[in-house]
Amino acid sequence: MNFKFFVTLTLAVSLTVFSADAQSVNNLRPRKKILKLARARLEGAKSQYRYFMTQVPQDKMPRTLDKDGKLLLTDTGWWCSGFYPGSLLLLVKATGDQELYQESLRRLSLLEKEQYNKETHDLGFMMYCSFGLADKLAPSQRYKDIIVNSARSLASRFDTTVGCIRSWNSKTPGEFLVIIDNMMNLELLFAASRLSGDSTFHKIALRHANTTLTNHFRSDNSSWHVVNYDSETGAVRLKRTDQGAADASAWARGQAWGLYGYTMAYRETGNETYLDQANKIASFILSHSRYPKDGVPYWDFDAPGIPNTFRDASAASVIASVLIELAGYTSKNTGKQYLNAAENILLTLSSPAYTATERTNGGFLLKHSVGSIPHKSEVDVPLTYADYYYLEALSRYRGLVKTDKR
Ligand code: GLY
Repeated sequence: MNFKFFVTLTLAVSLTVFSADAQSVNNLRPRKKILKLARARLEGAKSQYRYFMTQVPQDKMPRTLDKDGKLLLTDTGWWCSGFYPGSLLLLVKATGDQELYQESLRRLSLLEKEQYNKETHDLGFMMYCSFGLADKLAPSQRYKDIIVNSARSLASRFDTTVGCIRSWNSKTPGEFLVIIDNMMNLELLFAASRLSGDSTFHKIALRHANTTLTNHFRSDNSSWHVVNYDSETGAVRLKRTDQGAADASAWARGQAWGLYGYTMAYRETGNETYLDQANKIASFILSHSRYPKDGVPYWDFDAPGIPNTFRDASAASVIASVLIELAGYTSKNTGKQYLNAAENILLTLSSPAYTATERTNGGFLLKHSVGSIPHKSEVDVPLTYADYYYLEALSRYRGLVKTDKR
């Protein structure tokens, strides 16, 4: 594609389609200082990702760094495989950079085959954070088909008795596992219904969101990580954790996924029950006595050893991004509170404590995320999704200025 045409197209599409994202109905005003920071960080990220792309072999996706700082790679079946192309596309949208655009196209070609993968529930993360963005930037029937095929694969994991999409496959007979993270995958289904005109995807998303609302939340509005359903009856057998500190604890990224999931479900449906749940989760996080003043949560709100334990920049990125959106759906005062909280997180994540110096950190933007402490996996490392949601948050913040939507 001719580059001048591409930039013009990007601008035009951004002004129409992306204006639906994080649109502030409150006319909340971004702070000049943070706006300047967001613009500078997006430019800085462009340079860092131009370096990053030279480090990642053509046939793999980046995952994290090992303890010696060596880049660890993954194939496209891993749940995070859409975040690298997605981050590239967020940067293309923000800066119009053609080199990053070409790199994103190469990565999308690699990822494309996952549209037929029925072994994972993570197709929303994998295929919508990538092809969803690609289709918004440069709409094409090929992208739309990939999105709808991916939704079909995801929908194949839905069970009418349980009323949910199966998260993890289990070898134990009768066991049907659903994790709070799965709320994030519903965005793919909502989009596929719009694109195909087939309301089945939308209905499955609603049923999953409603079942999760009934069974995943505690009275304080924190969530369990895993709900184990009986696949014969749909009854709840057990509620437990997998990546959190304890069954009864509030795993930080799980709370972030729930917050983002219900905010997105409200955006897609206008159902006030989902908005109410999103506000309740936001309140749980922001008013928690162990939520640090700088806005980056410990990996679990109930982690042993707080304050001498790990923070999770990935959870912080997700929270910052979704609060900017949620701020637009609430009363002006609550919106201001959410925006302040998001600004606080962005300031912290953009400081040298979390943002890597250019050409270090293997090419990732952020340091200090946590994959899973119980599994001793990806502890205090960079992660692709921390970068992705940080870039989304910076873009959304910049998008609060009506004339600066690109
Ligand atoms: N969805 C997996 C995770 O958040 O670690």
